[in-house]
Amino acid sequence: MKDKDNQGLTDSLAERSVLVIDDSEAVRTALDVLLSLHGARVIGAESAAAGLDALAREPVDLVVQDMNFRREATSGEEGVALFRQIRAQHPDLPVILLTAWTHLETAVELVKAGASDYVAKPWDNARLLTTVRNLLDLHAARAENRAIRRQRAAARAELAARFDLKGIVYESDAMHALVSTAARVAHADVPVLITGPNGAGKEVIADILQANSTVKDGPWVKVNLGALPDTLMEAELFGTEAGAFTGAKARIGRFEAADGGTIFLDELGNLSPLGQSKLLRVLQTGEFERLGSNVTRRTKARVIAATNASLPLLIREGRFREDLFYRLNVIELEVPPLALRQDDILPLARHFLEPGFSLSPGALRALARYNWPGNVRELRNTIHRACLLSIEPEVTAKALQLPIAPEPEDGADLDRGAIERALLSAEGVIAHAARDLGLSRQALYRRMEKLGLKAPADPGRASANG
Ligand SMILES: Nc1ncnc2c1ncn2[C@@H]1O[C@H](COP(=O)(O)OP(=O)(O)O)[C@@H](O)[C@H]1O
Ligand SMILES: [Mg+2]
Repeated sequence: MKDKDNQGLTDSLAERSVLVIDDSEAVRTALDVLLSLHGARVIGAESAAAGLDALAREPVDLVVQDMNFRREATSGEEGVALFRQIRAQHPDLPVILLTAWTHLETAVELVKAGASDYVAKPWDNARLLTTVRNLLDLHAARAENRAIRRQRAAARAELAARFDLKGIVYESDAMHALVSTAARVAHADVPVLITGPNGAGKEVIADILQANSTVKDGPWVKVNLGALPDTLMEAELFGTEAGAFTGAKARIGRFEAADGGTIFLDELGNLSPLGQSKLLRVLQTGEFERLGSNVTRRTKARVIAATNASLPLLIREGRFREDLFYRLNVIELEVPPLALRQDDILPLARHFLEPGFSLSPGALRALARYNWPGNVRELRNTIHRACLLSIEPEVTAKALQLPIAPEPEDGADLDRGAIERALLSAEGVIAHAARDLGLSRQALYRRMEKLGLKAPADPGRASANG
């Protein structure tokens, strides 16, 4: 547990600039003393105009603002106007409203409009410090998060400018690494084996390999080996001569069709021992015969194979040929399950939404909480079904029909990750995060305090503190 009053380098107030806009000198002085004690630089302004001046003049990390700036003013209108002006110029700046308890309603309205939080006068010093620290930390975490997202988007754009990525959607670092590798090895004339669970996107990766290969204008032939019984497998892969079996017409096989292009052997792990030996031969020599023919033909195709099975395991069990494995896995690309790339879930979900539909905050949380055993395919089907069934344009968690337990009401079993995510997606606005989590502001503060949550999404800082 972090020590909140741990002064010195790790205090999130240290060297931050806090602008206090309040006509009462007593209030300005009290806040100056309190915040300076913890290392903050405090700038005081006695009017809205002076506050805006200071904002324009110097860097400010957080604003604490009063709602009335003349002794006789009590409506809070001046505070509202000031807040609006600040927000218009500084959309992300944390702003805390200092408000008389008789004006809480106005403050609550402004929090809905994007103020970070409010503190009722007279304030409790410890509470105020906690609020200020949390907001500063969230703001820093958000800025860092945005910077990371910008870097990732730039890296994606750069890759997409150089290669045809076939409309693949991702944000995770894991997928970026995979897609970059796929794009880079695409032009090499070597077999590629794509592994990963069902629905994870193996075929999408195969499409990228093909589209960026030297034979991209040649044929692109896909064969699902898992769907072929032995008797048909040979005919399908290698073709038939007329009369090869009763009623057989002359028909070219998939390997012949792929000559000069690429052949995709999907569900390789399901290929029978006979199929495996036939496949090995055509891979080794390029030679094959049509079923019912003794004319040896040649074909040259780039081979991409995919499997959701562990081939090394099948080899150990004697169910897959080791020599075939080594021929196909010259380059192996592993597509991680969707559950291991959280950052891809929401971008994919938005991508699959029908036009005009959106996702409710509860739906976003449900999507992030579910573990997606059927991976991207299941996500796509889930979103399509929800759009079909949803009467409202906003898809709710319920409409997703995911087999997960309903969310806890009181937040008692909300973990650190869930709270951090809510805080980040609420862009640091405590009241919004609390609403999204179904908690009161106070309950959220209590949970944050209990978890020692100061700097979400900032592991560097957390460990420096730890
Ligand atoms: N990263 C992705 N971006 C966009 N669509 C994807 C992505 N990954 C998978 N899909 C879609 O999800 C479905 C399943 O993907 P697929 O490549 O067929 O999975 P696999 O071959 O691993 O079973 C397909 O409709 C595919 O277009
Ligand atoms: Mg597939």
